[in-house]
Amino acid sequence: MKTIFSGIQPSGTITLGNYIGALKQFVELQNEYNCFFCIVDQHAITVPQDRLELRKNIRGLAALYLAVGIDPEKATLFIQSEVPAHAQAGWMLQCVSYIGELERMTQFKDKSAGKEAVSAGLLTYPPLMAADILLYNTDLVPVGEDQKQHLELTRDLAERFNKKYNDIFTLPEVSIPKVGARIMSLQDPTKKMSKSDPNQKAFISLLDDEKQIEKKIKSAVTDSEGIVKYDKENRPGISNLLTIYSILGGMQISEIEAKYEGKGYGEFKADLANVVINALKPIQERYNQLLNSTELDEILDKGASKANQTAGKMVKKMENAMGLGRKRK
Ligand code: TYM
Repeated sequence: MKTIFSGIQPSGTITLGNYIGALKQFVELQNEYNCFFCIVDQHAITVPQDRLELRKNIRGLAALYLAVGIDPEKATLFIQSEVPAHAQAGWMLQCVSYIGELERMTQFKDKSAGKEAVSAGLLTYPPLMAADILLYNTDLVPVGEDQKQHLELTRDLAERFNKKYNDIFTLPEVSIPKVGARIMSLQDPTKKMSKSDPNQKAFISLLDDEKQIEKKIKSAVTDSEGIVKYDKENRPGISNLLTIYSILGGMQISEIEAKYEGKGYGEFKADLANVVINALKPIQERYNQLLNSTELDEILDKGASKANQTAGKMVKKMENAMGLGRKRK
């Protein structure tokens, strides 16, 4: 069975973008692959975090993974900082990374732009992400489009390590969904929807209530044409809403266009709000049951133990390949 690894940062409540671009794929793929899904809390501290908020977000994200349908019998769910191999392998991979290639990462450029105090961790984030993936002999990494560049670097680092030291890493492939790989901001449809957007109206969180969802969709930026038609280049706002409708409502975009022919954005938006509310309701119910359960802790304990076993072996292989410490089996 082939292996999948993917991770999500516990920085704020995850959005419809994370759900459509990543989580929804995870649920579909868990039946066919040996899956490791991670709450990447060490990535979250590359930018300042409030300690108590972070703790809350880690637990909340774990509950959300399960609430959307990750089955702990099929997939291993764990918290990155509970598996020390990630930081160990991250360090070794930093030592095979070049500063120049890290400075070229779009995410680094975006997150550091205009800031005076930029953590070194923000720059060395991609080798840690590469470590996450390479520790598990991962074949496939399901992510949204914004992570593609990090995946390319992961492959470069793996190849470089294999050539320079020993051929121990599997080169992972990226899996990006055909539709919904980049859900856009509701307020500026040329920007991706992001959980760290200071404008709350720009994103729908998976935990938003009915009123918030209705309001946010109603105020979503479209255009003055008033025709429900997909045209990503020229009409990104309505096209983004159509994508969300299509994925969560289980309809082809052409079917939705036909349904709203001759009707304005008002009716379309009201129906879209219902589609989103109906998709999120069962997730929110399961989330609330799970959040304070002991079951959640048991799942995370078991997940950490399984991940530690697999990742620990790879760290030893890496250390042997690089000549660190004493030779061990
Ligand atoms: P993060 O936490 O920003 O996002 C988690 C996942 O959601 C996807 N995503 C989106 N998809 C569609 N539309 C959007 N607007 C949107 N916003 C986010 C992301 O592509 C991602 O798949 N560096 C990663 C976390 C990570 C990771 C890993 C991922 C750390 N280690 C190893 C895969 C493998 C990140 O910051 O994702």
